[in-house]
Amino acid sequence: MELDNLYRDISLCTNCSFHQYRVKTPFGGLKSGGKVMIVGQAPGEKENLTGRLFVGPSGKMLDELFDVNGISRDEVYMTNLIKCFVPHSKRIGQTHIDACSKYLDNEIALIHPSVIATMGYLATKYVYEKYTSEILSKPDIHNLVGKVYRVGETNLLALPHPSALIYNDSLRGDMIRNYHKLKVLIDDCKYYPFCSIKKLHEKGAVSDEWVELYCRGDWESCIRFRMEEQGLNPSDWMLPDGKLDERLKHFCD
Ligand code: URA
Repeated sequence: MELDNLYRDISLCTNCSFHQYRVKTPFGGLKSGGKVMIVGQAPGEKENLTGRLFVGPSGKMLDELFDVNGISRDEVYMTNLIKCFVPHSKRIGQTHIDACSKYLDNEIALIHPSVIATMGYLATKYVYEKYTSEILSKPDIHNLVGKVYRVGETNLLALPHPSALIYNDSLRGDMIRNYHKLKVLIDDCKYYPFCSIKKLHEKGAVSDEWVELYCRGDWESCIRFRMEEQGLNPSDWMLPDGKLDERLKHFCD
């Protein structure tokens, strides 16, 4: 209901000049349960006409990246930083972001995703600066791509915008690898139900942080996961980063 009110406010907004190009404002809806939110830049022409998200050329690329990585649209909540259509002849400036970003802030507050994946420079810059309160340069943002950062209670993943693939097919391999990280964040680690970290967490011996960053987050980077994949048996008191924590020993008996 609150989300519907927010959608209504957005579709009536006149806070910046882009409202004059708006035909429809595309909204996601919450089929996914809201664990993972994906933030794009702004609706394109087809999204503006249909009121559906990512149905134009970028959407086609996104669908390909989802398909190869086994991701379904229903598993993610999709949205944009700028809510109204931006014609090709116009540039998104700071005044537009200042006028519109409160809607994304409200969406995040209502949905409370545990993962936010940003697509492209502007969405990444806005979301990371909001979460870290730091000003990020272009190289800083470039370095974030494909890696998972936990800030507060949220795992952030910066992704390249799928539109880059429309113009440069040589990016395909890297793009597929980066979007694979999204699949990792959607799923939990397959070893988690049997992992000593789960038992230690239930006993209060390891913090939520470890579980959220690795077991339910980037489990592919967990040393325990990598050892399991190689048929090796990690010690019960080995943390996901590979450190042996002797203090955990007596919780393991
Ligand atoms: N590109 C975006 O960033 N968002 C859309 O909704 C469509 C294209």
